[in-house]
Amino acid sequence: MLILAVATALLAPTVTCLALNVTNTTSIRQAATTLAQGLFAYHNPASTIGQFTLPEPWYWWLSGSAWTALIDYTAYTNDTAYIPAIHSALSQNLGPDNDFVPASQAGWEANDDQVYWVYAALTALEYNFPALPCDSTNSSCQTTSWLAVATNAFEDFVTRWSNNSLTCAGGLKWQYNPSATGNGWNYKNSVSNGGFFQLSSRLARYTGNTTYADWADKIWNWSADIGLISPSFHVFDGTSDADGANCSSLNHEEWSYNLAAYLHGAANMYAYNVNITSATPSHNTNIVTDFWESAAHSFITTANSTFFSPFPNATGIMYEPQCEPKGICNTDQTSFKGSLAGWMAKSAVLVPSLRADVTGLLRTSASGAVEACSGLGNGSCGTKWYVGGYDGATGLGQELGGLDVVLGLLAGEAPGLQFG
Ligand SMILES: *[C@@H]1O[C@H](CO)[C@@H](O)[C@H](O)[C@H]1NC(C)=O
Ligand SMILES: *[C@@H]1O[C@H](CO)[C@@H](O)[C@H](O)[C@H]1NC(C)=O
Ligand SMILES: *[C@@H]1O[C@H](CO)[C@@H](O)[C@H](O)[C@H]1NC(C)=O
Ligand SMILES: *[C@@H]1O[C@H](CO)[C@@H](O)[C@H](O)[C@H]1NC(C)=O
Ligand SMILES: *[C@@H]1O[C@H](CO)[C@@H](O)[C@H](O)[C@H]1NC(C)=O
Ligand SMILES: *[C@@H]1O[C@H](CO)[C@@H](O)[C@H](O)[C@H]1NC(C)=O
Ligand SMILES: *[C@@H]1O[C@H](CO)[C@@H](O)[C@H](O)[C@H]1NC(C)=O
Ligand SMILES: *[C@@H]1O[C@H](CO)[C@@H](O)[C@H](O)[C@H]1NC(C)=O
Ligand SMILES: *[C@@H]1O[C@H](CO)[C@@H](O)[C@H](O)[C@H]1NC(C)=O
Ligand SMILES: *[C@@H]1O[C@H](CO)[C@@H](O)[C@H](O)[C@H]1NC(C)=O
Ligand SMILES: *[C@@H]1O[C@H](CO)[C@@H](O)[C@H](O)[C@H]1NC(C)=O
Ligand SMILES: *[C@@H]1O[C@H](CO)[C@@H](O)[C@H](O)[C@H]1NC(C)=O
Repeated sequence: MLILAVATALLAPTVTCLALNVTNTTSIRQAATTLAQGLFAYHNPASTIGQFTLPEPWYWWLSGSAWTALIDYTAYTNDTAYIPAIHSALSQNLGPDNDFVPASQAGWEANDDQVYWVYAALTALEYNFPALPCDSTNSSCQTTSWLAVATNAFEDFVTRWSNNSLTCAGGLKWQYNPSATGNGWNYKNSVSNGGFFQLSSRLARYTGNTTYADWADKIWNWSADIGLISPSFHVFDGTSDADGANCSSLNHEEWSYNLAAYLHGAANMYAYNVNITSATPSHNTNIVTDFWESAAHSFITTANSTFFSPFPNATGIMYEPQCEPKGICNTDQTSFKGSLAGWMAKSAVLVPSLRADVTGLLRTSASGAVEACSGLGNGSCGTKWYVGGYDGATGLGQELGGLDVVLGLLAGEAPGLQFG
């Protein structure tokens, strides 16, 4: 790190070397501020509609993920710099039904794309982020609440689940539009179903409404029955319902964000059930809370053995095994570690017994990421966190991953996740 900093300093005297002391909250906040600037540098309001600069429209979901990170950043630091941009972007992508189905994405948007924007609304809800502003020229204007956005999307998924249940006895297809391009109409995948599970469980925890908890249970049961979640808590990418396949075989690829989607849903189900138990002690739900707590622990154990420690010289550093060792990660895939890091951190806020393990894994990973975020003379992030420096690959996904893992170290500092 020091040697790299000196070398780049010779080329660019104004270089700022990102420093991080993982046990010093001030230092973590400073690193997060620098990384948030690095991420926001990709935002170009002149050429995009509430999106980051990307090839459009395929990576629309990634902008949703990036805005979510900036909402986390705002909640964890009280830095208000990005609030207007977040409001503007989210407003422009809500769509006519206030559910993140904007006309601009028609024909492209799939369930997983939508849910990644819905995570932004859920995060805003949970952290009491300022409400969307009203159009001041409209005297009768009522802003759409974050809760309304999240429940509107929930209702979309419920309808689509019913419609999609002719095959495989349930499960969302990847695409919700039968005429969408690609094979998404015949694929039931973990990022979509894990996303619906997480949305339902976060709504259950926030509102206490059993309708959402029942759906979370149902999606979980289906995911486990069909094998997307294995008995040892591996999460596989998806399964086909094409031509009578009826989800009888699995695509066994493992990606970090898939496991993470279910992990954070399980953590929310734990918190939801603990809350019920504490409010009505006579209603003993210990068996249920034990189930979800145990599931959350099992996901961390499996994540540790699957997505950490790629080499003996990189113990405890997160990586994406499907693409990083071969150097073939695409734009989407470079960001997945950010989802795992962020949801591990938030899950540990909700499930205290996870904290020691999660904190350890996030600290080693964030330290690696900060070394990787030393590119282009201005702290741009690389893909691999285990090489002891910048690996030469830069992009929105890399910046997002670097920011998310550092933000993960602050999740416990934020005001606790709010209840409704
Ligand atoms: C990191 O921060 C902690 C607490 O703020 C401090 O005690 C420790 O000395 C710092 N470590 C280094 C290497 O500066
Ligand atoms: C924590 O980090 C900040 C910012 O780098 C630094 O100013 C401060 O001295 C550090 N505190 C300790 C105890 O190391
Ligand atoms: C870092 O440098 C690259 C290449 O010049 C540039 O595209 C990017 O916007 C810079 N990032 C920041 C945060 O200035
Ligand atoms: C942010 O501000 C709120 C309200 O003023 C305060 O309670 C909280 O501790 C602050 N958080 C941080 C991380 O400074
Ligand atoms: C004013 O706001 C109301 C409620 O949000 C909305 O129904 C109406 O369409 C808006 N009118 C205009 C002119 O935008
Ligand atoms: C329901 O699924 C059928 C095909 O299985 C499709 O043609 C139709 O558009 C879908 N309807 C909705 C509302 O998604
Ligand atoms: C399709 O799979 C579901 C879930 O495993 C099962 O309940 C159903 O019987 C299967 N249908 C056919 C026609 O095999
Ligand atoms: C959770 O528990 C707290 C404290 O008992 C209570 O104030 C809150 O309303 C509960 N929330 C839900 C969603 O049940
Ligand atoms: C619970 O949520 C469902 C689905 O959004 C809704 O229909 C129902 O009215 C809610 N129940 C309560 C008590 O708020
Ligand atoms: C999910 O499966 C569990 C265990 O078999 C069962 O107790 C529960 O009723 C199921 N929930 C739903 C909503 O199907
Ligand atoms: C993660 O796995 C390593 C072995 O690769 C083990 O030493 C460590 O204890 C595990 N950590 C957790 C939190 O499970
Ligand atoms: C660890 O080993 C791997 C495989 O040899 C290598 O690619 C990587 O650069 C090494 N990391 C460090 C920090 O030396």
